[in-house]
Amino acid sequence: MSEVSEMDAARALLRWHLEMGVDETVAPAPADFYAWQAPQTGGQSANAPARRGAAPRLDAVKAEAQAVPAAPAAPETVSTDEAIRAAETAAAACDSFEALDAAVKAFEGCPLKAGAKNTVFTDGVPGSDLLVIGEAPGRDEDRLGKPFVGRAGQLLDRMLAAIGRARTENVLISNVIFWRPPANRTPTALETAVCRPFVDRLIELTGPKAVLIAGGAPLQALLGVTGIMRARGVWREIETASGARFPALPTYHPAFLLRQPAGKRLAWADLQSLDQKLKGR
Ligand code: URA
Repeated sequence: MSEVSEMDAARALLRWHLEMGVDETVAPAPADFYAWQAPQTGGQSANAPARRGAAPRLDAVKAEAQAVPAAPAAPETVSTDEAIRAAETAAAACDSFEALDAAVKAFEGCPLKAGAKNTVFTDGVPGSDLLVIGEAPGRDEDRLGKPFVGRAGQLLDRMLAAIGRARTENVLISNVIFWRPPANRTPTALETAVCRPFVDRLIELTGPKAVLIAGGAPLQALLGVTGIMRARGVWREIETASGARFPALPTYHPAFLLRQPAGKRLAWADLQSLDQKLKGR
């Protein structure tokens, strides 16, 4: 192989890793996280990572590479229907926000969880009259375990501040997906269907006066409507699993506004409409 084609091959391999969602180096050698033993009683096993997503020590990785059988058993697979039913059962059993938060973090039915560092459920004040629902965690959110903390999140904070809202005081923020999709791809319909019972229960338990739907993906997931350009600024209702209805306003996703600042004028009109609704006008 010539030097140039080796470079091409290396670039192609890097591109492939990026497409698969591998965009961070956590250790100098590959490690099979499925093959790690669960911690022994009385503490962590010597070579288990200290916590989900933590970088394993190099000596532990080498020892593990020698010890691990060549073809470890595939992780147990669960059908999407079973996963949706498990999510429905788990969500329905929750009678408080705290119980729901724990149930989401304990849920193993969404395959995206295997590739994520953290479960990203909510940030802000549960019980606020405003609930913002976005698409899915990105890299910053996955790392910190909180929704909307990257650049788009900072713009969202400024947009909310313009109508007197802050996540430390009077807004709750979540997504239709709680684990980062590989390479930040749009969540699939099956992934959103698995998370939906928890989103519904979040809405029911926190009882917002209005839900701000940020972007086309949550618009599709929550209302079954496509086309954020036409749908934004028009009040609709989200119907949860139990049949409860909540006013919902679709608007542009802040990441879209970062790319298309001309859309901010319309987003501002949406925020004013939201503010009026929350003030009961
Ligand atoms: N985009 C989203 O839709 N949600 C986040 O939490 C971050 C970015």
